[in-house]
Amino acid sequence: MWDDLIPIVEAGLDRYLTTSADCPRRLEEAMRYSIEAGGKRLRPVLVLMACEACGGNVEDAVPAAAAIEMIHTYSLIHDDLPAMDDDDLRRGRPTNHKQFDEATAILAGDGLLTLAFDILARNIQPAEVAISCVADLASAAGVEGMVGGQMADLQAERGIEPGADGLSVLEAIHLRKTGRLLRSSLTMGGRIARADDATIEMLDHFGKCVGLAFQIADDLLDVTGDVARMGKGLRKDADHGKLTYPGLLGIDESRRRAESLIDDARRSIAPLGDRGHRLDAVARFILERDH
Ligand code: IPE
Ligand code: IPE
Ligand code: MG
Ligand code: MG
Ligand code: MG
Repeated sequence: MWDDLIPIVEAGLDRYLTTSADCPRRLEEAMRYSIEAGGKRLRPVLVLMACEACGGNVEDAVPAAAAIEMIHTYSLIHDDLPAMDDDDLRRGRPTNHKQFDEATAILAGDGLLTLAFDILARNIQPAEVAISCVADLASAAGVEGMVGGQMADLQAERGIEPGADGLSVLEAIHLRKTGRLLRSSLTMGGRIARADDATIEMLDHFGKCVGLAFQIADDLLDVTGDVARMGKGLRKDADHGKLTYPGLLGIDESRRRAESLIDDARRSIAPLGDRGHRLDAVARFILERDH
């Protein structure tokens, strides 16, 4: 479905993951370890597809694709730390802190986070598009986005405020911890193709629906998935007291919610016509995925 885009993503990651001679070798090794472990590369692929769907040149979007995969990978390294989800397996390998040590894992995450913005600032042309991508990704990755969502996810492990609606709290967590980065993949792709505001808004809505459905599917796969296929530890959300869709609504209703979000996402990009067919296929993959 996106096999042709993977070599472009991998070449971009390799190219932009070069660090200066001042970077300690162990730190570079730890950064490369988690990036080279692979993963689906969904976010960088979405950057390229959104750019393509808006009539842009895919090559122009490679720096943004590499940058968002670095942010995502840093978020996984930190998510797996003992202080957070305390996981031992990621992308089919020991987690970064298991392979190296906790301090190195924290610093490898910090290194990837910072490098992402360096890549955008230096490689996206023209400067006004670079600035709009930096602002977009910073908002998505930061306290109002992924970082804020991760904080809220951990707080919810200790219970939610009396009287609060669990489903609304959970939706707000998922929209931030996972949804915002997926949205940013799409909107950065659109910005690089110089899409108009209405098209960016359409991509943003598509990303919001797909992002929420993606995390619902992740919660479902924690219950029903296969460890070898997923390449990460499973069946831990309930033990950690995580607020999840299957935990609140059960498996069938969670699936129905994900399906309805994907229907909404697919309808919303109808104005793209044939140019949207790859984004449409990704939306369908999110429902069907087993990894
Ligand atoms: C895992 O993301 C973390 C979530 C946001 C659910 P992915 O399932 O995209 O992980 P990789 O990149 O394929 O390893
Ligand atoms: C993580 O959500 C979202 C991130 C921002 C990393 P999860 O904690 O559910 O992701 P997995 O299941 O460990 O991949
Ligand atoms: Mg987590
Ligand atoms: Mg986790
Ligand atoms: Mg999970």
